[in-house]
Amino acid sequence: MALKKGADIKPAAGKLGILMPGMGAVATTFIAGVLAVRRGLAKPIGSLTQMGTIRLGKRTENNTPMIKDYVSLASLDDIVFGGWDIFPDDAYAAATRAGVLESKLLDQLKDELQAIKPMTAVFEQAYVKKLTGPNVKKGTSKMDLAEQLMEDIRQFKAKNGCDRLVAVWCGSTEVYRKPSEVHSTLAKFEEGLRNSSDDIAPSQIYAYACIKLGIPYSNGAPNLASDTAALIELARDKQVPLAGKDFKTGQTLMKTILAPGFKARLLGLQGWYSTNILGNRDGEVLDDPESFKSKEVTKLGVLDHIFQPHLYPDLYGHIDHVVRINYYPPRGDNKEGWDNIDIVGWLGYPMQIKVNFLCRDSILAAPIVLDLALFMDFASRAGMSGIQEWLSFYWKSPMTPEGLYPEHDLFIQLMKLKNTLRYAKGDDLITHLGAEYYD
Ligand SMILES: NC(=O)c1ccc[n+]([C@@H]2O[C@H](COP(=O)([O-])OP(=O)(O)OC[C@H]3O[C@@H](n4cnc5c(N)ncnc54)[C@H](O)[C@@H]3O)[C@@H](O)[C@H]2O)c1
Repeated sequence: MALKKGADIKPAAGKLGILMPGMGAVATTFIAGVLAVRRGLAKPIGSLTQMGTIRLGKRTENNTPMIKDYVSLASLDDIVFGGWDIFPDDAYAAATRAGVLESKLLDQLKDELQAIKPMTAVFEQAYVKKLTGPNVKKGTSKMDLAEQLMEDIRQFKAKNGCDRLVAVWCGSTEVYRKPSEVHSTLAKFEEGLRNSSDDIAPSQIYAYACIKLGIPYSNGAPNLASDTAALIELARDKQVPLAGKDFKTGQTLMKTILAPGFKARLLGLQGWYSTNILGNRDGEVLDDPESFKSKEVTKLGVLDHIFQPHLYPDLYGHIDHVVRINYYPPRGDNKEGWDNIDIVGWLGYPMQIKVNFLCRDSILAAPIVLDLALFMDFASRAGMSGIQEWLSFYWKSPMTPEGLYPEHDLFIQLMKLKNTLRYAKGDDLITHLGAEYYD
């Protein structure tokens, strides 16, 4: 549903439950981080909802509130965490295994983390070939599994006294699949659930269960999940916000920062070669070519949409864009990415740029999970439903309504996000028009 200017935004009263299918490195780094911030042990760096401001009115007005105060987002103190995983480890054990955060910090949060235990998962080996775990549901059909998930959610909500829920998929990347007949309408999808269609992935069963219960759903992985006609139809019927897909963290974040700059100055591009070494469980899953294919597709789309080769054939008509991920266990979560960028300047003279990003995957992803959870809850309270394009800022491959191309330029994405908040609050949009000197 379209956003109304000056929408009637319901207050963020009571507890917000954040449900995560998949409680591995990203989910536990997010959970432990929020607990640490709550206790004043660390700062929520990288989170727009916690540290970002928004300018209102003209520059002369000096009115720049914190985003979280301006749109009254849920407070970190009101968050409750839940989720599912195919491994039964509690959040302390899973965070320790992931090896992202130091034990000195985790030990201070041990009791709270140990109390967060994953519910039994819906899993199918064919969709994540490299993992096998014991904490998995059995069911008579995929519809039965969806109903079991809905029962988990109801119980979680009642037990934790939650007022509202949101879900963010933090599970492994499933193998690449294109939508098939079963995804074309909701009726066919529900029929497919009853017949346990092979084409329905576990991530889609979670998405179905959540959307059916009116829970805003975000997809942090590159596989389809809610990005199908059937589930978009369900979201429309239930008036639920949807967002995805694939958190924009390391190398793709750099691409969507750098590429708009080259484009702005009309520097040409011959090629962009990106390679990574990564040693966490995500890297292990992506070592399977079929799971990597899902990732490759979301990573490759970015440059074409930013450079618009159809409008600038001389500059961007032929770009060699290559992306590689190599599983290399010694690095754990501390991914290293290399980019070689071949650009072209005045009169066609070539130049090169090298980027070497020594990043930490889950440290970059955790604040995105937090922001998405809080903004999706906001969207729901503001009566926004369907695909939330204003949250494209967070995605490698933003979901868009049929027929529209996604916006990948990080700076346009941020402007869109902030203007959406201003619009929802009934304030003037900031256009940077400059018709008067103080605009
Ligand atoms: N960290 C990043 O920078 C980043 C960026 C973009 C996307 N992602 C995506 O986020 C997801 C999580 O990444 P991670 O580093 O935490 O991986 P991870 O392997 O540490 O965690 C994923 C967890 O999901 C669980 N899982 C798999 N299938 C499941 C199912 N059907 N139900 C419940 N649990 C299931 C696994 O057991 C594992 O514990 C991956 O899909 C990854 O590609 C991560």
